[in-house]
Amino acid sequence: MTSTATLKLQAIPIDKEIENLIRASENISVGTVPGDNQHFGPDPDGLTILPDSTRKRLVDAGIDISKGYPSRPDKSLIPVYLDEATAIRDDDYEYIERAKNADPEKKALLGAAKEVIHLTNHIGTEIVGLQLEDLTDQQKDELALLVAERVVVFFRDQKLSPQKQLELGEYWGRVEKHPQASQVNGLPGITVIWQDYFQKSLGSNFTYKNINLGNWDATKNSTRGAQVWHTDLVHEKRPAGITHLHLDAIPDVGGDTLWSSGYAAYDKLSENFKKFLDGKQAVYVSAHGYLDRKNPFSGPKKIERVHPLVRTHPATGWKALYVNRTMTKRIVGLSSVESDLILNYLFDVYEKNADIQVRFRWTPSKEGYGTSAIWDNRVSQHRSTWDHEGRQPRHGTRVTSLADLPHFDPESKSQREALGLPLDEKDFF
Ligand SMILES: [Fe+2]
Repeated sequence: MTSTATLKLQAIPIDKEIENLIRASENISVGTVPGDNQHFGPDPDGLTILPDSTRKRLVDAGIDISKGYPSRPDKSLIPVYLDEATAIRDDDYEYIERAKNADPEKKALLGAAKEVIHLTNHIGTEIVGLQLEDLTDQQKDELALLVAERVVVFFRDQKLSPQKQLELGEYWGRVEKHPQASQVNGLPGITVIWQDYFQKSLGSNFTYKNINLGNWDATKNSTRGAQVWHTDLVHEKRPAGITHLHLDAIPDVGGDTLWSSGYAAYDKLSENFKKFLDGKQAVYVSAHGYLDRKNPFSGPKKIERVHPLVRTHPATGWKALYVNRTMTKRIVGLSSVESDLILNYLFDVYEKNADIQVRFRWTPSKEGYGTSAIWDNRVSQHRSTWDHEGRQPRHGTRVTSLADLPHFDPESKSQREALGLPLDEKDFF
């Protein structure tokens, strides 16, 4: 009996034993960020605070919320070890850059719109009078190009089911399915953006005073919600391209989102500094942590990827600064002191220049309608605000299309160079 038991124990590798223990435990998290609760599957608690407009949108779309909402992937599916999490979507697949098929003048899209409003000179355009669900493939290609050029494009008063939103995302690339984020029931490609739920049900402790601490030092103060400037999913082998956030519950005032242009941030730098940065690579980390199989007791580790620090967008051909405060860890080939100094300056360029940013006010739509923001993560950063402090509901669904393998083309130009705008180095030094 003893020898059989011993044999059985020896037959299970230690990492598998730890994995089994973690999966079976009520109290140990599986690959979660600290503070996440341990609810898996549809969450009945979410229904108690679900905004009416969201409930109507989900029910009208035939989504089953009878057992709860939102839904978190089953515990058995969430990776425990870093190598498993890193292997997700590590394969090669053919990415089609839809914007490359577009008519550069975008006549089918812009010609059909009632109004095209550029919100600032460098970033942000609102299209009026079109429904996203009705776009033809030609218009979708042109929209992808418009997003690549203008960084973020807005559509108010949209009747859009989660399924249609997913379909659009699948047209633009491989849709990211997060291994552990809350999602729309039965639709793993649609992530739920709902601070009120994270606050009330998952115990995320953010307040008026602490929500922005990460903007000063993201290494010490973790991101709370999305209040710190960031770019989505930079730890992927092929990181996020187009992200589409559709809000179906919007406060009367507050909850704005801001975007900043990576093309314009790059063009703020001196030509000498651009030359120094061109071709450099950096290490990018995931938001969530996982265990190192060889050293599981050392605590959660983040997925790390190396990408170019300056990226060339495959459709516009323009160079953009690809960094963000929460997930760019270090520049390859520099000492940690040098890297911190330079990265902090680059984060500041993105975050502190109001003339390369747009702040979007999500206005409440008529009943049954919501508002969409569609942006290109390859050439931007974004952040949200929480000034409504949960007093009125704010709920959205997000679909992210993963894009190309990040690359830097030494022959590519900056946006201002390509558009023939002055580089203005007079009085710069
Ligand atoms: Fe984000």
